[in-house]
This record gives sequence, C-alpha cells and structure tokens, in this order.
Amino acid sequence: MTEDALPGFVELTAADPAYSACPEARLAPLRRRCPVHADPLTGHVLLARHADARRLLADPALWRHPSRARPDTLFHRFTALRPVDPAVPPGERTSILMLDQPDHLRIRTPLQQAFHARVFRARPLVEEVVADVLEGLAGAPAFDLVAAFAEPVPIHAIARILGVAPERREEFRRWSEAIILTLNPLRTPEEDAAAIAATDALHAHFAELMAARRKVPADDLVTDLVQAQAAGAPLSDREILLNLTALLVGGNLTTTDLIASGVRLLLLNPEALARLRADPSLAAAAVEETLRLEGPVDVTPRIAPSDMEIAGVPVPAGTPVFALLRAANRDPEVFAEPDRFDLGRQAGGAAPHLAFGGGAHSCIGAALARLEARVAFQRLFAAFPGLRLAGEAPAWRSLPGFRGLARLPVATGA
Ligand code: HEM
Repeated sequence: MTEDALPGFVELTAADPAYSACPEARLAPLRRRCPVHADPLTGHVLLARHADARRLLADPALWRHPSRARPDTLFHRFTALRPVDPAVPPGERTSILMLDQPDHLRIRTPLQQAFHARVFRARPLVEEVVADVLEGLAGAPAFDLVAAFAEPVPIHAIARILGVAPERREEFRRWSEAIILTLNPLRTPEEDAAAIAATDALHAHFAELMAARRKVPADDLVTDLVQAQAAGAPLSDREILLNLTALLVGGNLTTTDLIASGVRLLLLNPEALARLRADPSLAAAAVEETLRLEGPVDVTPRIAPSDMEIAGVPVPAGTPVFALLRAANRDPEVFAEPDRFDLGRQAGGAAPHLAFGGGAHSCIGAALARLEARVAFQRLFAAFPGLRLAGEAPAWRSLPGFRGLARLPVATGA
C-alpha cells in the first residue's frame, strides 16, 4: 500500500501482517481523511468514527444475514459451511448472531433471559475455575499466558455453565476450537471438514444433554432452556442446539483475547498495574480500558435494506456496512488521548466503547466476559507478584476481524 492510498476492508484485517503490527497506522488516516469509506474491492462501506458506528449499530431497520447482502460483495460470500435447504425455517439455519427479525428477537429473548440469570450467579463458579487454572501453574518460572491461562478459563467456565460433564470437557474444548475456524472467511477445505465434523459432534452432544436434562434436571443452562421450552418459550430443539453452539463460538476466543491483551497492557503500564494491585476493585476499569484499546472484535456488520446515506455518502440497498469498532474506540473526538491506557477514564464518565457492538445484536455474553476478565486480573496478579513479559515483539493471531495474541510468554520470578 502507498502512503496516500486508503486501506480497503482486507487491509484492515489481521490477515494483513502490516495491519496486525500496527492497526492505528491504517485506522487513524482513514478516520481523518475518509471516515465513511466505500471500499471498491469488497463493496463494503466502512465506518471509522464513533458517532457513525454507534448510530449504525443502534438502527433496528438494518439487516444482518450475509445472504441479504448484494451478491457482488465479499460479505455475501460469508456463507454457511454447507448448502442450506431453503425449506428450513431461518431460525433453524443459523444462530442469533446472523439472524434477522422477527426470528432474532423470538429466539434471543428467552435465551438471554436464561443465560443472564446464570451469569448473574456465576461469580463463585468463575472464581473456582480461575483458582483451579492458577493452581496448575503454581511454582512455574515461566509460561505462555495464552495457552496456560487465557484459553482454559473461558472454556471451563462456559462448559460448567452449560452443564458439560467434567469427563467430556476435553472433547468439548477440541470441538469448540475446530468450530471457531468457521469465523475465518479465508478458511481451507480441510478446516471446513474439521468444523463440520466438530459441529456434528457438538450438536449430538447437546442433543444428548437436552434429552438427559428432560429426564433428570440439573443446575445448568441446558436444563433452564429445556424447561423454558416446556413452559412455552417459542424455541425448537434445533434452535436451542444452534444457539448453545453460538455461545461457545462467540465467547471463547474473544474472552481469551480480552484476558491476554489485558494482562499485556497492564504489564506494559506498571503504574496502572500498581494501582490495580493496591485496589483490586480497579479490575473493572482495567477490563473496560482493555476492551476500548485492544477490543477482541475489530469489526461488526449490518446490511442496508434500502438505499440510504451515511454522512452524505450514498449507500445502495444490499450494501454491507461495517462498524470499525477499533477505530471508533480510539476516536479522539470521543476519547481524549485515545491511545493511552487510562484507568481513570471510566470514573471521568467516558463515552461507552463499542467493543460489544450495540442495538439488537449487541453481545449477549458481555457480562460473562467482563466477570471472567475481572476475576482473572485480580487472581493472576495476586498469585504472581513478580509477573513480567518475557517475549519481545507480540505475536498476534491472523484471524480476520479479530484481535488477539497467539502467544504471550511471561516469567513469574519464581
Ligand atoms: C470480550 C469478549 C467478547 C467480545 C469483545 C464480544 C464481542 C461481540 C460483538 C462485537 C458482537 C456483535 C455485536 C453487534 O454486531 O452489534 C457479539 C455478539 C455476540 N456475542 Fe459476544 N463478545 C464477547 C464475549 C462473548 C461471550 C462470553 C459470549 C457467550 C458466552 C458471546 C456470545 C455472543 C453472541 C451469541 C452474539 C450474537 C448476539 C446477537 O446477534 O444477537 N460473546 N459479541
């Protein structure tokens, strides 16, 4: 790319090594020179300002499913893993993540009610999960914080919330990892095959669990959902399966990335870390600053249902419009000194960051991710008073649309 050229959609993803190395070098000029950018290569419109992105996400008239995007756009090709029978109703084809109204609201309402009630009571469970993972690390002089801490915490927490038996958790983790590959539009045929096999295995496991919980209820989300269904919630068995899977796919990698990026930012900002050590209640502010500065999700789409205009730029019907969440979260019109990690920002009444999106599709797992990351920061830094970074340049993963560390070598001073 030349200095003057505006970056297109693909050059704003982690698949581009220059973007990964320094996203701001591409996002800041875009926000300044062309904050509503129609990318000719992909047919997407990109929004780099906080105000435009926020308005887009809050608009209930916009669509979400890729099949509704114009066929000549890249987003239209973010298709399902296998061909879908048009006779199958929309709610049984895809999870709430890509579903449009009225099915989205019909399914999301009971799912959210049951899930949030569980998350509300999940602190002791999350404390236990984090303590177990830390126990396994006791005395270790050095480890990769991603593999040893940030990955196991979310997968164990969600497995317990859903109700997966301890002896099945390892399988469950492998399936979850294979299915995450479906989020990569540039995936290989081998990755497709692995994701299809894992989806089938996971669905079979959830179907077994649902049958078991109908006979003998347990203290878990699968029980809550089959009971809600029996009490009249308008959810089919397949809709429950698809959305249990969405909780896994939406929640694991993202929360891993939040924990690992937050630990890195705190280790890079010793003053903030000292404040957090002195006052662990600042973990909440550390989580929000991590979400704002190094949010795990870079972009989220909507689709124009009819011809429209955004800040004077024409947006024809069927155009995918992407909110560049990272660019919005560092918009200097909204956040003073936007590149600074500032634990005091929240107390100063900062505008909301957009790391969890917004409107009807806003992240259903935000409260769980926040809870896990707060407990993770508090317990990790208490367990390892001498924790420090051991690697040189950070190693970022290359999954388009996401921002996360592949590895984070740390030394404990033990
Ligand atoms: C730090 C961690 C997380 C981040 C940054 C994140 C971010 C997001 C974003 C940006 C969206 C799209 C919002 C929009 O388009 O307006 C989303 C949706 C979603 N997230 Fe999360 N997420 C996280 C954790 C979780 C967790 C823990 C779960 C579940 C256990 C989860 C499940 C979902 C689901 C199911 C959706 C689709 C909601 C809908 O379309 O109605 N996420 N998330």
